[in-house]
Amino acid sequence: MSAGPFRAEPDAILARLAELRALDAPTHGGRVLSYVYDPGDAALDELAAAAIRAMQPVNGLDPTTFPSVAALERDLVGFARGLLHGDDEVVGSVTTGGTESCLLAVKTARDVWRAARPDAGAPRLVAPTTAHAAFQKAAHYLGLELDLVPVDADGRVDPEEIVDRLDDDVALVVVSAPSYPVAALDPVEPVAAACAARGIALHVDACIGGLVLPFWPGLPAWDFAVPGVMSVSADLHKYGYAPKGVSVLLQRGRDRQRAQYFATTRWPGYPVVNPTVLGSKSAGPLAAAWAIVQALGAEGFAALADDCRRATAAVRETVAGIEGLRIVGEPAGPLLAVAADETVPADRRVDPHHWADAVRASGWVLQLQPGLAQEGGVRLPPTTHLTITPVTERGLPELLPVLAAGADAVRGVPSVDAAQVLAALPPLGSAPLDSETAAGILAALGLGGGSGALPDRQAPLLALIEAVPAPVAERLLVELLGRLVEPATRVE
Ligand SMILES: Cc1ncc(COP(=O)(O)O)c(C=O)c1O
Repeated sequence: MSAGPFRAEPDAILARLAELRALDAPTHGGRVLSYVYDPGDAALDELAAAAIRAMQPVNGLDPTTFPSVAALERDLVGFARGLLHGDDEVVGSVTTGGTESCLLAVKTARDVWRAARPDAGAPRLVAPTTAHAAFQKAAHYLGLELDLVPVDADGRVDPEEIVDRLDDDVALVVVSAPSYPVAALDPVEPVAAACAARGIALHVDACIGGLVLPFWPGLPAWDFAVPGVMSVSADLHKYGYAPKGVSVLLQRGRDRQRAQYFATTRWPGYPVVNPTVLGSKSAGPLAAAWAIVQALGAEGFAALADDCRRATAAVRETVAGIEGLRIVGEPAGPLLAVAADETVPADRRVDPHHWADAVRASGWVLQLQPGLAQEGGVRLPPTTHLTITPVTERGLPELLPVLAAGADAVRGVPSVDAAQVLAALPPLGSAPLDSETAAGILAALGLGGGSGALPDRQAPLLALIEAVPAPVAERLLVELLGRLVEPATRVE
């Protein structure tokens, strides 16, 4: 290849990229049990890459100029609608991911609610505490009051507690299928019946479960088969095995779904008609997801769900057999949360965060989740999250002994002491932290050194998150991430 106008050879540029990528957690092979969804088939990856390449120059903004975009989207919406028992009144769009699907479900509900009550104040969004944080973001961005319903210690919400909060000011109720933190399948049917009776919209967030729960045996109905479910989000970049940047939001009722759009002819440029948040956007992930759906079909997804189911059963059996740990609640689908078993004496207990750190030292990355004090409810314990993917099954002979050995290594070690964490902090004062002060605190804690790498042991960081007031923890984390992308020197 000619170097042309390049300042460096393409090979050298790509070599540098490969060096940077080598620092990442492995995206294939199942060693990272969150964030990535590996079907374990290199041919699918190749197909997705080729599809992205074919669509690389296309602008997904305008399906009238690029009809291929509309064709691919029609196929994906149709596939998801079939899987999720939607009839012809269910329509939808492809979005860039779960967060965008959730945001748009909230925006739709808010605008439908407002249209009926032009003089009302801010509407309410009711959801269990375990609803994904994307709904906190949506309420924040879109001006809704967030009304979180406490769950029990196993992450289960009592449908009556949701029903009790329904009133005229509720624009949307959200339940999950399943929730991310503990994999609880929320009680869709009773909540949907109550919402329908009051004319309140119900969204089922199946971002993580939407393409795997349809193949999971023994679950109650949770999708459009349930009357009263008005929208469902399902991410193709999770158990749809597509590269990041693609999700589907389905809505019941054309008129309702049109409230999702933003359109304006009131500027001197091209008419803007956006079903989603972005304007110009890549059509690559859409094409990749479409290609994967063409290749797999429902049968292929069912087979991959079977792989997940067998691997999940094996992991659950192993964890259940580890003294000092317990699986939280009744996980639905291929994810689970693990907490300390408080029924055994303290010297036999396994702190889930020490456990995750020990397992990580053996090359398997589990995700630490903080405990949470629920307003007006029980305190949820700290947990460790595992997302199981089809490729997990192949790694079981290595993974299962690592899970057991990790627990043996830390059994009886007390959780990181919050008081000690606080003692290590400079006095916090009551004023909001500015950037310099926040960076100073991070430095005092040995965090935020610039490389971006978190310390090998994350249990102390999680203890910090639990120990300090949420606004302080959030500000510190913002600083950590903000500094991560600051150039060290001026770029010419
Ligand atoms: C239930 C649920 N909802 C929403 C999201 C947000 O999805 P994304 O990270 O694609 O924005 C997730 C992500 O894990 C999820 O599990």
